[in-house]
Amino acid sequence: LRQETFEEFARESDLHTLSHRGLTQELIPGWLETGERDLDGRIVSSAYGETPLSIQERLVKLLSLHSNDIFLDVGAGGGGVLARMLGLGISAFGVEQNRLLVEAGQRYLKSQGFPPDRLSRGDFLTCPWPEATKIYSATSRYSQATLRGLALRIQATDSASRVVTLGKELYLSTGWTLEHRVEHRIRWNRDEAEVPESLCSWVRNPQTPPATR
Ligand SMILES: C[S@@+](CC[C@H](N)C(=O)[O-])C[C@H]1O[C@@H](n2cnc3c(N)ncnc32)[C@H](O)[C@@H]1O
Repeated sequence: LRQETFEEFARESDLHTLSHRGLTQELIPGWLETGERDLDGRIVSSAYGETPLSIQERLVKLLSLHSNDIFLDVGAGGGGVLARMLGLGISAFGVEQNRLLVEAGQRYLKSQGFPPDRLSRGDFLTCPWPEATKIYSATSRYSQATLRGLALRIQATDSASRVVTLGKELYLSTGWTLEHRVEHRIRWNRDEAEVPESLCSWVRNPQTPPATR
């Protein structure tokens, strides 16, 4: 097995160009074909970038990950965060809509000895989700419609007890408590300037047992 880091892989495989190609050659033509109207919103939602390693470390702590957790990266890109979780021995999955990123990510997972099908292709707003207990999403470039849809799906995932986002804040229902919100300066892509982003963590409120008489 080649023990290269995801950062090295992303650099050599030029995942950002891949993502641009994915957008222009595959996603946009596909949306046009299916009559998607809000192309701007869809493009914004699909913009790619990788969560920096320092934030990935915080993520492990904020999600309070244990060996029996099921982790899900919603909008998993090339699978960098996913590979890190698998490397920690956690049962982890990722969903990504860009076929080219999924293919590159699956290649990377395989090269590291992880099951490539842990990264699957799908629109996270509509595809089935694993029974995740801990959820992460890099929300920075999602449209408002995507953010609303994501919040609804998380609320409907009964197995989930913690959620972390990097970027735009989610509006979860009163069943969730925002535990942590800290601003970080993030460089999403190699040639971009740093931008301020919020790292937020929510925990599901304990269920109150039904009142007994
Ligand atoms: C900023 S990248 C984050 C990649 C990875 N999670 C990380 O943190 O390193 C966000 C990813 O979400 C994906 N995405 C956006 N909307 C999506 C949707 N509706 N379904 C699946 N993936 C989506 C984009 O294609 C992009 O690759």
